[in-house]
Amino acid sequence: MSESSVAAQAFYSSDRCTLYQGNCLDILPTLPASSVDLIFADPPYNLSNDGFTCHGGRAVSVNKGDWDRSQGIQQDFEFHKAWIQECRRLLKPNGTIWISGTYHNIYACGFALQWLDFHILNDICWYKPNASPNLSCRFFTASHETLLWARKSKKGKHTFNYEAMKTGDFPRDGLKIPGRQMRSVWSIPTPPASEKNQGKHPTQKPLDLLDRLLLASTNPGDVVLDPFAGSGTTGLAALRHDRTFIGIDKEPDYLQLTIARLSQI
Ligand SMILES: C[S@@+](CC[C@H](N)C(=O)[O-])C[C@H]1O[C@@H](n2cnc3c(N)ncnc32)[C@H](O)[C@@H]1O
Repeated sequence: MSESSVAAQAFYSSDRCTLYQGNCLDILPTLPASSVDLIFADPPYNLSNDGFTCHGGRAVSVNKGDWDRSQGIQQDFEFHKAWIQECRRLLKPNGTIWISGTYHNIYACGFALQWLDFHILNDICWYKPNASPNLSCRFFTASHETLLWARKSKKGKHTFNYEAMKTGDFPRDGLKIPGRQMRSVWSIPTPPASEKNQGKHPTQKPLDLLDRLLLASTNPGDVVLDPFAGSGTTGLAALRHDRTFIGIDKEPDYLQLTIARLSQI
């Protein structure tokens, strides 16, 4: 923690979980340097610009919320660079960061990672076999998101639980061949209704996705941080697998949803 930053007040705290409410650009600087093993970030996509998509057979607005509006290419990039730089300070020397996004934001995040001297380990294609159809029929149907995985230091020794990925059980992934190496395309459906029984978040990630990446790149007892925690999927996966969780979100309602989901464990 820099000498000038005052520790932020937790919105919620328990044995292995602390949640903060506010702009991550204000909260991250108050957390201690080199204290986090792994960061998963699902930042604003910058795609909520009044377009339409298809959901349940109906045309619906693509808008996720004001937090997702683009401020223009330059400002969006500066925002991503700023939070990624703070994440770099928080990571332990062998720590890694995952960033999830679409073509609207992932190139800016990838460039910021390179700019800030991270070492990119993988870009994972998360294929959604149940993605919504394309309404315009004028281009391909978007059916994946990209996850970048990067190490803080060029020469760091990051955690990769190779055997767990190779021999683990992934019954819902039609692309994973049992007993063979885990490849960089993961087939995981969007969250089922059973994962939304405590309330809705417009961009909730499936637990299967977070389970997989935490099992791959952390060990029990590790500290996991999510600066854009949303409905708390990362927290749920972290606690289910005996990791410690720190989550940040601007919106108190989403933090309440996180608390409700965590209480189900
Ligand atoms: C893409 S969603 C994350 C969804 C999450 N992965 C889940 O599974 O529910 C991004 C979240 O970041 C929050 N957010 C946006 N800008 C933020 C900022 N500057 N600081 C903290 N949270 C922010 C939004 O409220 C939203 O919940």
